[in-house]
Amino acid sequence: MDVVVLISGTGSNLRALLEAARHADYPARIVAIGADRDADGLALGEEFGIPTFIVPFDRGMDREAWGAELIAAIDPFRPELVVLSGLMRLVPGNVIDRYAPMLLNTHPAYLPEFPGAHGVRDALAAGVSQTGASIIIVDRSVDGGPIVVQERVAIQADDTEATLHERIKPVERRLLIDTVRAIATNTINLKEFSQP
Ligand code: GRF
Repeated sequence: MDVVVLISGTGSNLRALLEAARHADYPARIVAIGADRDADGLALGEEFGIPTFIVPFDRGMDREAWGAELIAAIDPFRPELVVLSGLMRLVPGNVIDRYAPMLLNTHPAYLPEFPGAHGVRDALAAGVSQTGASIIIVDRSVDGGPIVVQERVAIQADDTEATLHERIKPVERRLLIDTVRAIATNTINLKEFSQP
């Protein structure tokens, strides 16, 4: 199964997926890496020999116009699945219409707890004893799409946003690797998830 992954940051979760996909028996391959900016994680394209593209989101840009450019950059790779792994941008409706439900996002919280761009910081600020990691199907809500899989992560008393996020990410990586494998082997059918 061909997968396109979109990032905005370091791409450490993407690296985990790329390393898993290196194994001949992994049933999916990353065919392109895209970003909305010159993300550090694009260097993984060079390292793993995978094409990359940037569709810049310039301030004040029309979101649907950006979405149309993003679709034009993704479609030539003919992905069966698009994964947002640290894309710090809400994808517009035209992108959702084009790819969902074969459109996943990883989120560093136990949704519906702590949606949005600061899920780790918000969980810490809430003073709760645990948070989590979630893989969801992207819909027009902010992190409110169908939950495909999620797992709890404990918060420790001396946690900072950074230490907590670094404890959440390995869980995200494992959930992402397992979920992409399950979709590629038809163990999970995302079309079932998207029906109410
Ligand atoms: C991940 O925790 C992802 O869920 C969140 O941003 C982080 C991306 O980290 N949206 P990285 O770029 O994969 O290191």
